[in-house]
Amino acid sequence: MQAYCLLAKPRKFEHINQLAMNFELTEEHRAVQQAAREFARTELLPGVIERDEHQLFPAEQIKKMGELGFMGMMVSPQYGGSGMDTISYVLAMEEISKVDASASVCMSVNNSLVCWGIETYGTEEQKRKYLPRLARGEIIGAFCLSEPEAGSDATSQRTTAIDMGEYYLLNGTKNWITNGNSASVYIVMAQSHPEKRHKGINAFIVERHWSGVVVGKKENKMGIRGSDTHSIMFTDVKVPKENRIGEDGFGFTFAMETLNGGRIGIAAQALGIASGAYELALNYAKERKAFGQEIYKHQAIAFKLADMATQIEAARWLCLRAAWLKDNHQDYAAASAMAKLFASQVAMEVTTEAVQIHGGYGYVKEYHVERLMRDAKITQIYEGTSEIQKIVISRSILK
Ligand code: CAA
Repeated sequence: MQAYCLLAKPRKFEHINQLAMNFELTEEHRAVQQAAREFARTELLPGVIERDEHQLFPAEQIKKMGELGFMGMMVSPQYGGSGMDTISYVLAMEEISKVDASASVCMSVNNSLVCWGIETYGTEEQKRKYLPRLARGEIIGAFCLSEPEAGSDATSQRTTAIDMGEYYLLNGTKNWITNGNSASVYIVMAQSHPEKRHKGINAFIVERHWSGVVVGKKENKMGIRGSDTHSIMFTDVKVPKENRIGEDGFGFTFAMETLNGGRIGIAAQALGIASGAYELALNYAKERKAFGQEIYKHQAIAFKLADMATQIEAARWLCLRAAWLKDNHQDYAAASAMAKLFASQVAMEVTTEAVQIHGGYGYVKEYHVERLMRDAKITQIYEGTSEIQKIVISRSILK
């Protein structure tokens, strides 16, 4: 296990910033990729079908991922993280998602929506208090933006946070919260000045054990069934002033900026789901015989595999490009939306074809591809639906 611990030796990626995007992974990148691949094979694959069937959260596996440095990959070592770049994160997300998309969404939310937001916009005190345990996976975080009546239309937040002087009084309900039950810390967006619309929204760090925080119904989902998705209710929760992130009214910008990075993680998840299904289909096509020969020798199957490989390669480069732009401090909002839009579509198409190549075997659970097909769908919905990604992209190209 120690052999591939990301935290074992501090790695430096500063040199990447001086390079143009050169289509070549560094030795360090390959080491991270290999470590994630090995972890997925040895620790996530056993039991993944059972966890999906019984909706079991991979708590033990997430703990190990924390110990190995996968839960705070981009957090600086000063705050307990692995200090890696976004390209490494994409590579690791792809490998973990090939095998277990329930574990990878937990990893993605913790890394990009929780740790990144706190490290980028939090106070020194907030970083010291929350990041080390989050980055080591000792605790897990969740991101509470969506509401029963505010999903895509995120500016219409109904949850309120009223300034009471010493603290904010938080009231409202959040829906579809990934890591809802396993999280100890929630980043919560709430409206403090309704007359200012989105400029009145604040973001807060809320601890689960505080009075008035109640974890609600667990969703019985089509896919990513091992991840725990819940509603969360906040009733007269007293949130100390020092737990607000950024200036008064910064919450919506905070959420949007955080989601720009989050979408790279989900794009990489979609990529992993697609490449996992493709690898299974390729292996199956080499073993399965029909009409006197292995099925890959039939052009109908060979052409499917060619299309799948091409789509995956294109999705991979969109993911890496968005990551590279982020690492190089360039505008990556549209690039991350493009990566998510395209990779999630590829995930749907490739997993559907993988089931088709497997024939009847693809429709039963032992062969994994039906689960990957079910898991793929959510990547077109969460962290902004495909339609929202098109809003972000079109506004960027038309401005
Ligand atoms: N990056 C940075 N800023 C952005 C932005 C982006 N991608 N998108 C919008 N903004 C800014 C705008 O510039 C504007 O700022 P100013 O007022 O300062 O100019 C502000 O946000 C409001 O934007 P609009 O006027 O465009 O507002 P709108 O209501 O027309 O559209 C939206 C906003 C882009 C549709 C936004 O509501 C949105 O992104 N919705 C989707 C929300 C979402 O992704 N939810 C996912 C939930 S989290 C989740 O799924 C996590 C999980 O558990 C897995």
